[in-house]
Amino acid sequence: MTLLPLVVALDGPASSGKSSVGAAAAQAVGFRFCDTGLLYRAITWLVLLRGIDPADPVGLVALVGEVELAADEFGRLARVLVDGQDVTDLVHAPEVDRRVSEVARVGELRAALLQRQRAIASGGRIVVAGRDIGTVVLPHAGLKVFLDASAEERGRRRAEERDLDPDGPEARAVLAELQRRDDLDRNRPVAPLRPAPDAIHIVTDGNTFEQTVAAVVAAIHRAGDIPARVATAPAADDGGRA
Ligand code: DC
Repeated sequence: MTLLPLVVALDGPASSGKSSVGAAAAQAVGFRFCDTGLLYRAITWLVLLRGIDPADPVGLVALVGEVELAADEFGRLARVLVDGQDVTDLVHAPEVDRRVSEVARVGELRAALLQRQRAIASGGRIVVAGRDIGTVVLPHAGLKVFLDASAEERGRRRAEERDLDPDGPEARAVLAELQRRDDLDRNRPVAPLRPAPDAIHIVTDGNTFEQTVAAVVAAIHRAGDIPARVATAPAADDGGRA
């Protein structure tokens, strides 16, 4: 029996760990990795930079050709270029966090990015992280994982990454912002954030990073019959943002 090369769709809400966990899990099993959120972030960054109306489909689609995913030092598509310049750190600015869901809700933009994401996944042996990968981009993915954690846990992790007092007003603002973005992503009319009916749910409250990576790796092994191998699996160089 010939198995088709496995494609892993990894979806979940903001700060659920998709990017860092997905990158590490992909590394551990020798798969490629792609963080699709970077595409939406880079477009949003350009919108803000140029004062483009985030609700204007024509203006947004015109930006798509300027944005390109790029490999990190491990070959994972965890960096993003705009006109050839690496803007990965810039696209994680709080202002982009605040505005990205407005841009990502525009159906014409999503349609324009669809083929690109599918082309990256063709050939398989890849983990693709996003919001609608299992439902829209790659509905035939051999494994679908929905990575989740309570909003409080995700907010706490995000506050910790930013060295904020967990009980302070800034940490509360981080949590509120996360919940606002989740709401927008879950309730948009096109390709909302939602688990595919056939997705495995991994809830990461109380897990260490390594435990969550191990859970995803185990799911990949079960789905794809990939020989286990010992590997150090560094997270993508994203400052743990996921
Ligand atoms: O994964 P992230 O936080 O970097 O994603 C940023 C935003 O991009 C997220 O709030 C919604 C959008 N996004 C999306 O709509 N579809 C994807 N496949 C990936 C991200």
